Amino acid sequence: MIIAIDGPAASGKGTIARALAAHFGLPHLDTGLLYRAVGAKALADHVDFEDEAALAARAGALDLAALDPEALKSGAVGEAASRVAALPQVRATLLTVQQDFARQPGGAVLDGRDIGTVIAPHAEVKIFVTASPEARAERRYRELAGRGEPVTYDQVLADILRRDARDSGRASAPLIRAGDAVVLDNTALDRNASLTRALEIVAARTGR
Ligand code: DC
Repeated sequence: MIIAIDGPAASGKGTIARALAAHFGLPHLDTGLLYRAVGAKALADHVDFEDEAALAARAGALDLAALDPEALKSGAVGEAASRVAALPQVRATLLTVQQDFARQPGGAVLDGRDIGTVIAPHAEVKIFVTASPEARAERRYRELAGRGEPVTYDQVLADILRRDARDSGRASAPLIRAGDAVVLDNTALDRNASLTRALEIVAARTGR
């Protein structure tokens, strides 16, 4: 069973994906980490963000097993990730590793922006997780402030709106809901209610 979870920044899709993976005993890939790792490498190597070939080369050199989520969570890396993710050569380079992960025997859970549309269009379950920009900014603000990043709520909201526009407006695999994805809007749901709803969606699609 392949479960595809897509949605905008800070929508809670990662939490839902991890919980579903644990519940069904499936491997999980947070595909945002791939773009974050390319963004972080580009920052570290001072690569020009217009130099698509150099950025694609960084994408090609990624080692899935060596991804460190904690080191990739900062706002600066998220912004760099959103920029490199708009580049077709970077996306093309990361396609195979994601599709191979999805095709594992037994299945997998992947979360990102284009899982249900590009990476695994035949996934048995597709969930489009979303929430209002203000609710997402509040969550991301608490997370960043909790880790000591010097940010304000207004900065985080502006950042989320800018990333939404870039992720949805790009020509290459933009963030859009797959026609057969079920929308899970968790603006007014807490974590448990959100997970319950996700499990209901899986059950309705697969009987599991
Ligand atoms: O989910 P996230 O915030 O970690 O993602 C970081 C960036 O990577 C985000 O701005 C969009 C991009 N991304 C993407 O374009 N496609 C994916 N499948 C996952 C992430």
